[in-house]
Amino acid sequence: MSLTNAGGSPAYRILAIETSCDETAAAVVADGRHILSNRVASQIELHRRFGGVYPEVASRQHVLAIQTVVEEALADVSVAHVRELDAIAVTHGPGLAGSLLVGVNLAKGLAFASGLPLIPVNHLEGHIYSNWLYPDCSPGVESSASEDGNGRTQRGGSAFDQFPALLLIVSGGHTELVLMEGHCRYRLLGATLDDAAGEAFDKVARLLELGYPGGPAIQAAAESGDAGRFHLPRPLMRPGRRTERQPDAKASLLPTVLPVQGEHRFNFSFSGLKTAVLNLMRQLEREGTEARQTQTAADIAAAFQMAVVDVLVGKTADAAAEFGVKQVCICGGVSANGLLRRAAEQHFAKIGLPLHCPPLFLCTDNAAMIGAAAYYRQSYVPARQPSPMGHEHRQHAQEVAHSTPHDQRSEPPARDFLALDVYASLPLVDSVER
Ligand code: KG4
Ligand code: ZN
Repeated sequence: MSLTNAGGSPAYRILAIETSCDETAAAVVADGRHILSNRVASQIELHRRFGGVYPEVASRQHVLAIQTVVEEALADVSVAHVRELDAIAVTHGPGLAGSLLVGVNLAKGLAFASGLPLIPVNHLEGHIYSNWLYPDCSPGVESSASEDGNGRTQRGGSAFDQFPALLLIVSGGHTELVLMEGHCRYRLLGATLDDAAGEAFDKVARLLELGYPGGPAIQAAAESGDAGRFHLPRPLMRPGRRTERQPDAKASLLPTVLPVQGEHRFNFSFSGLKTAVLNLMRQLEREGTEARQTQTAADIAAAFQMAVVDVLVGKTADAAAEFGVKQVCICGGVSANGLLRRAAEQHFAKIGLPLHCPPLFLCTDNAAMIGAAAYYRQSYVPARQPSPMGHEHRQHAQEVAHSTPHDQRSEPPARDFLALDVYASLPLVDSVER
């Protein structure tokens, strides 16, 4: 990888660190688009025995893994000292406080020792920018490409700088529809009122005893399931004008169901769907059918997955039409779901709207996406105090939300980053209520 960009100027290389949940990750990203290194030490095996992420175990594992992971990322780009790079980025929330602190404290130490600027990144903004990355990794670096849900090889993020863009963020902790009006400028359209989509996958997988993490387990079980055997509700949707389902729709209810009207049009709710699965299982048991028997569990998993995908695609399609967007981007762990990708692809291809999903290895947590988001934040939002994302901060971010060209950007004031702390779950940076 050449160290100059297409314009001939030196590439801006960011070391990014991500420890918000159960992946210890470090990456080096050039100019916000090129992955030079992408290292992820997953803790999945460790948490599997608990059936979910055990926060204290996660923090301790980050402590054990972080130094090696960062050293590997630097070795991938043949950097002996971090000061040879241009900036350090770190996820500072939302996430598990103990886990975030490991990454934040290491990043602070590296920034202090090297004199490099430190760029705090919102984890969700990281997921958004996974769609802007090209995974043209250096030889020997993991995960240069991946299979999509249809078995095709994917070569990376392809979102382009055309706005407004519609973002569907679907992860273990969040489900949000966001209008992206420009780089780092967001308007929150709707969010889940209770469980996130990924959380619902995880909880239903636990009910069915399919294993952890739940999303991939449900997807795998659903492959041999009949989504039409059981009917499950589509929360915050209503019967549509069309009564005839498409012949190729299998058990999808689209377009015979549409988003509800009114204040919850772009909101989601998945907790009732999880309860509906539980009630269905109880009913089957009462009737003498073992709900966790392999084929029955597969049929329930398929029906559940289809219900979630109907809601996600139905609401995204509605928002895309309402706001006349130029492109749609799906991101976050649940964007790895094959049915979601296929259903969204089918819908948006039919109406001729560009749809982007990250390659599979960038759907779940990684540090490359944090490096990408940091680059755009550094380029488009002028210097700010890297303080917790409180009201003052967000007001300031809104004031400066109009683009600042890359060459006019300024660095954060020296050592202010020592005040950087982690913060609890909050809506997106710069979000504006409807
Ligand atoms: O973005 P992510 O890695 O972590 C958070 O920021 O939360 O998302 C993790 C979530 C988990 O709930 C996991 O079950 C879900 O993403 N997930 C999936 C799939 N792969 C991961 N959900 C559905 N289908 C998948 N293939
Ligand atoms: Zn995530």
